[in-house]
Amino acid sequence: MEKTLIILKPDCVQRRLIGRVLQRFEDKGLTLAGMKLMQIEKARAEEHYAPHVGKPFYPGLIEYITSGPVVVLSLHGPNAIAVSRKLMGATFGFDAEPGTIRGDFGISKTFNLIHGSDAPETAEVETALYFSPRELLEYTTAADGWTSKPGEV
Ligand code: RTP
Ligand code: MG
Repeated sequence: MEKTLIILKPDCVQRRLIGRVLQRFEDKGLTLAGMKLMQIEKARAEEHYAPHVGKPFYPGLIEYITSGPVVVLSLHGPNAIAVSRKLMGATFGFDAEPGTIRGDFGISKTFNLIHGSDAPETAEVETALYFSPRELLEYTTAADGWTSKPGEV
């Protein structure tokens, strides 16, 4: 099972979209291993976005992601990273296809609602940045046997 780290960004929380966005991941069949409401401190934001240091949008990105509460999710499932990025859509809402989270709920080049890991290595690093091992639960649900077949991926 692959895991990914998702952040419902400050605009998502402020616009009261947490439930509707979370619903899409549940509907798709990904499993919630961890979830917390928090405000990201500057140091943690800088660690998360270290790969973007020096880019013109970096200062604004740090300001945005630290500007209010966020919901951080650890999601598990087959191809969780690619599946989540498809659900999220292209980086900016004006570009993102209708039917995706960014495509349906946003139009801004600054406020794009959600973050998702882009590779297994970054998922690993990002998960450790927001969750301690004991905050992540491994469990099965009654629907698992019909959501995907064990070993099919
Ligand atoms: P994310 O990491 O947030 O899931 O989004 P992403 O992979 O689609 O985008 P990425 O290239 O990793 O950029 C990280 C975040 O930086 C902001 N950004 N602003 N103004 C700009 O040109 C620009 N480019 C990127 C976005 O908030 C993006 O989500
Ligand atoms: Mg990215």
